[in-house]
Amino acid sequence: MTLSGKNILLGITGGIAAYKSAYLTRLLIKQGAIVKVVMTPTAKQFITPLTLATLSQNPILVDFFNSENGGWNSHVSLGLWADAMIIAPATANTIAKMSNGIADNLLTTSYLSARCPVFVAPAMDLDMFAHPATRRNIAALKNIGNIIIDADEGELASGLTGKGRMAEPEKIVAAVSDYFEQSNQLAGKTIMITAGPTYENIDPVRFIGNYSSGKMGFALAVAAANRGADVILISGPARLKINNSRIQRIDVTSAEQMYEACKSNFEKCDAAIMAAAVADYRPVNVSEQKIKKADNALTITLEATPDIAKLLGQQKSDRQLLIGFALETENGLANATEKLKKKNLDFIVLNSANELGAGFNTDTNRITILKKNGEKIDYQLKSKNEVANDIIDQMIVAANEIDK
Ligand code: CTP
Repeated sequence: MTLSGKNILLGITGGIAAYKSAYLTRLLIKQGAIVKVVMTPTAKQFITPLTLATLSQNPILVDFFNSENGGWNSHVSLGLWADAMIIAPATANTIAKMSNGIADNLLTTSYLSARCPVFVAPAMDLDMFAHPATRRNIAALKNIGNIIIDADEGELASGLTGKGRMAEPEKIVAAVSDYFEQSNQLAGKTIMITAGPTYENIDPVRFIGNYSSGKMGFALAVAAANRGADVILISGPARLKINNSRIQRIDVTSAEQMYEACKSNFEKCDAAIMAAAVADYRPVNVSEQKIKKADNALTITLEATPDIAKLLGQQKSDRQLLIGFALETENGLANATEKLKKKNLDFIVLNSANELGAGFNTDTNRITILKKNGEKIDYQLKSKNEVANDIIDQMIVAANEIDK
């Protein structure tokens, strides 16, 4: 029983595939889950609450309160109760509401209150599924970390054939079970992750920085925490928020401060992922006063900052993993291979600053992983959340190799 004792909130929206939700409920119960069902008012037109109440062994929730006894169905407590929320079928309409934070029924309010992982199984006609608005909404949900269980191709209720059929209940249950299985993969492990840019002061109002947003490092922190790791996220100035009890965030500004934070935390870590774009140079002298404009050219003398990855590479034990990034504008493979060796990394994640949709300040990335044993893995362009999961997968492969 892969879902033993898990609280699953199943959200059903008004689509013809709602008939499959009865079977989905049965499968979830069979796997040991405790299931509560929340339906949109339209979903009741497609499948009766009685069927679902019988199968889930719990009353069905549709309204904010029970019209007979005034009992309040709290979306907040439902959201907190759930270990996972599944929305299946998810119509184009509900997906659009979810991606825009619209909360006009018990299902959408529960979605907004849910702190747990959310699985979304879209179901609609092929043209609705292919519409740019739907594509954008699904991409937005993916981006905020919802897990999309992709629709299947096949015969649709409209009589047309194409992509838009809800994934079969077995596939949905497998996705949820896999998630919980993975969520323990890094239990007991501590992972340090650097993220964002560093700022090197020139004077009280100016600095040397770069365009790194921190998105990749933050996505890695969430991906590692989702697998059960305790994460120490050491972040340069990034305009990102993170709210996860498994992630301890340490904010720093300069390369020197990042190095100090890394140095004092690395020893207790099982692995470190260096995703920060650390400034390589800083001004030798930081002016105490704002530098005034003059007629002649201004020269600022720079000195090297600590190469954090390289220094950790010198310290690391045989039981620790060190993973670096290489953002290149040319000769990517050759430069990344050199950094892999020079910094004593277990693997390096190469991405190109020139490529559309990859590198700094984007929501997507396309990476190549180069391992110290010479293995090379190329990936497609994906959301940074998915890329983060690919990197964590490879970190687990590398950790298993150490354990052998
Ligand atoms: N890195 C680091 N400390 C630095 C510079 C880089 O920890 N002072 C880490 C980055 O976080 C990344 C890897 O080293 O994981 C490679 O960073 P990158 O900037 O691509 O390489 P550099 O060694 O700085 O080389 P160059 O800038 O010449 O490409």
